Amino acid sequence: MPILEVKNVSFSYGQNEKALKGVSFSVEKGEFVAIIGHNGSGKSTLAKLLNGLLKPTGGEVVVDGFSSNDKNAVFEIRKRVGMVFQNPDNQLIASIVEDDIAFGPENLGVPREEIGKRIDFALKAVGMENFRKATPERLSGGQKQRIAIAGVLALKPQILVLDESTAMLDPQGRKEIAAVVENLRKSGVSVIAITHYMDEAVKADKVLVLDRGVVALSGTPKKVFSQKAALDALGLEQPLAGIIADKLRAQGLNIPENIITEEELLGALWTL
Ligand SMILES: Nc1ncnc2c1ncn2[C@@H]1O[C@H](COP(=O)(O)OP(=O)(O)OP(=O)(O)O)[C@@H](O)[C@H]1O
Ligand SMILES: [Mg+2]
Repeated sequence: MPILEVKNVSFSYGQNEKALKGVSFSVEKGEFVAIIGHNGSGKSTLAKLLNGLLKPTGGEVVVDGFSSNDKNAVFEIRKRVGMVFQNPDNQLIASIVEDDIAFGPENLGVPREEIGKRIDFALKAVGMENFRKATPERLSGGQKQRIAIAGVLALKPQILVLDESTAMLDPQGRKEIAAVVENLRKSGVSVIAITHYMDEAVKADKVLVLDRGVVALSGTPKKVFSQKAALDALGLEQPLAGIIADKLRAQGLNIPENIITEEELLGALWTL
């Protein structure tokens, strides 16, 4: 059974045109789903619907059996769906890493010894065990964002939603977050990552392309990124490996079609 089901969900902000129109998809336990789409396509609106920050105006979001349309279930949904946003500076509040991570569980009334365990667990999950006593403001962007993720993981969510959480990071920081996502996926936490970086989306199990509030394309990265004309029409680029593969092919090299990852590109070059 999927941990998350989005069933024909629509949403409008007041009288404006609907931000989402009949969106449906599901996410399994431990699955990594990437959501892409140009500015204003409805990605952040969808993210806020997933954890009950917004309520659908039509359709239903079901998290671990709890429906967004059941008023009493909002708390259960928020417990299960953690959100991390773009700017780590806006998400860190304490002046010592461990206090920052403790903040969420403390607010939920988690007992003291349990909080210690949660801090250990969360720091380990993001590979920041050695920064327990560090000052967040001295950390790099990637490290800060890993602490922000740890703060959410300390609440033991089943689903983590990252809304452009790598947008402000340098390539090194983006790599660090990719490693955290991979680690979470292995440990059974589902990750939904909204991103403008196609090279992050190719690592997902499933990609969802939003366009003006509807799911324009969806499927495995291979399936989605092979629809080049459709992506182009939606104003989205190819993953870098695909762009390079096309250029090499245009130079007469025998490179297969539909390369999307660095590994595939290297494999194709190796066998030339
Ligand atoms: N608080 C709001 N009030 C009214 N309209 C909103 C609000 N937030 C978003 N919208 C509108 O809803 C639509 C979807 O916006 P949303 O922020 O979900 O898109 P997005 O895909 O996250 O965009 P971006 O890539 O720029 O982050 C847009 O037309 C936007 O102008
Ligand atoms: Mg957004």
